[in-house]
Amino acid sequence: MSVVAVLGTQWGDEGKGKIVDYLAQQAEAVVRYGGGSNAGHTVAVNNQEYKLRLMPSGILFKGTLCVVGNGVAFNPKDMLAEMDAMIEKGVDVSGVRISNRAHVVLPYHNLLDGLMEEAKGDAKVGTTKNGIGPCYEDRDSRIGIRVCDFIDEEEFAKRLKENLELKNKVLVKLYGVEPLDYDTLLKEYQGYARRLKPYVCDTIALIQDEIKAGHKILCEGAQATMLDIDYGTYPYCTASHPVSGGITVGAGIAPRQIDKVFGVVKAYCSRVGEGPFPTEQLNEIGDTLREAGHEYGTVTGRPRRIGWLDAFVVRYAGLISGIDYMAITRLDILDGLEEIKMCVGYKYKGEVINEIPASLKVLAEVEPVYETFKGWMTPISGIRKYEDLPVEARNYLERLAEVTGIPLGIVSVGPNRDQTIVVVDDAF
Ligand code: GDP
Ligand code: IMO
Ligand code: MG
Repeated sequence: MSVVAVLGTQWGDEGKGKIVDYLAQQAEAVVRYGGGSNAGHTVAVNNQEYKLRLMPSGILFKGTLCVVGNGVAFNPKDMLAEMDAMIEKGVDVSGVRISNRAHVVLPYHNLLDGLMEEAKGDAKVGTTKNGIGPCYEDRDSRIGIRVCDFIDEEEFAKRLKENLELKNKVLVKLYGVEPLDYDTLLKEYQGYARRLKPYVCDTIALIQDEIKAGHKILCEGAQATMLDIDYGTYPYCTASHPVSGGITVGAGIAPRQIDKVFGVVKAYCSRVGEGPFPTEQLNEIGDTLREAGHEYGTVTGRPRRIGWLDAFVVRYAGLISGIDYMAITRLDILDGLEEIKMCVGYKYKGEVINEIPASLKVLAEVEPVYETFKGWMTPISGIRKYEDLPVEARNYLERLAEVTGIPLGIVSVGPNRDQTIVVVDDAF
């Protein structure tokens, strides 16, 4: 097996970074295929934490190629800040490769993201204000600036001028704010381009060569299924495709080249930002889990909304992305609960439904069907073998596998790399 994907099955922050870092021990390359600095992936080794936004989570392994694919909304300033922070911690960043086809996030994207949210008032999405939507909008309007143009001084100067003329009209006339200054922006970003140029290449050719050489490649999803622009809770979603289909268009890997897909499933649910969340617990349970799990956004610091595990959503994610194995994370956060619930389906107007409703009006009214499980009430972070997990924990996981129809592959019992139980050793 040479191409393995790791992606989110819920509303993000499932622990994709941790699972990618774990599997990256065996990989020659790790590829991000979508999203941008809206992602916040945490990797922990020996209690040292690394917070990654654009940097693929294979960076802690010297010699591993860390590819920012063409599907990424690429913010050069954030990338350089991340690279500098890594270098300061003694991490070798020479394996970084940036796609010449990725679209560049510029300050007007961030600005417009915030202004658009403000203008929407109560209907705001609750974005991370990283300019992700506006950057992909420019790509789809065919006015975006790609990395290949960004590192070409003449081309960048020309395209920035054209874009800024347009964006300044929107900023001034529509939103009534100050325009951005062309010369200042050009100078600052030309500096970033010069620093990043050595890392830029045709990553499509690079990845295809890696596959041909039989090397092991990990595709790292950002965001998650329920935040996908088509499959998620539209319009309360991001602007890219976190599902496995996104790998094909965001990294240049053909569907048939994807050998295996791991769906990362947090043992309960969380959501940041607005939008429907059927199993949300706006009560003591939600508060307890938020504190036990330190559920505050990596990127924005916002308190995350908390709910019971929604196996109906995970099943849906499994179908869309062809998930072969679940990687369960944060099971240890449930250690102190006497009773745990899992949503195994939805009812609408008293009737069981078979699909996740497209209409948000309907989704807001569904009634989760819960099953209740006895908690294990004992710390599990030190356990390294599946059969050593308390029987109550195994019951919970095995029922999840049954409801979703997806087998267990990995169970994570703590943030650190070694706090990982391999249930089926079948990644590569
Ligand atoms: P991502 O965006 O999917 O990569 O997830 P985040 O990094 O935003 O959030 C997951 C958080 O959970 C991070 O702080 C991880 O270090 C942490 N984490 C991952 N797996 C586990 C686990 O099994 N147990 C605990 N306690 N923490 C975990
Ligand atoms: P990782 O990769 C959780 C959410 C935002 C908002 C919506 C749109 O760490 O799991 P955007 O800035 O993308 O336009 O915001 O999507 N969101 C995330 N929530 N984890 C993430 O990434 C997210 N990336 C975006 O909170 O609701
Ligand atoms: Mg995150």
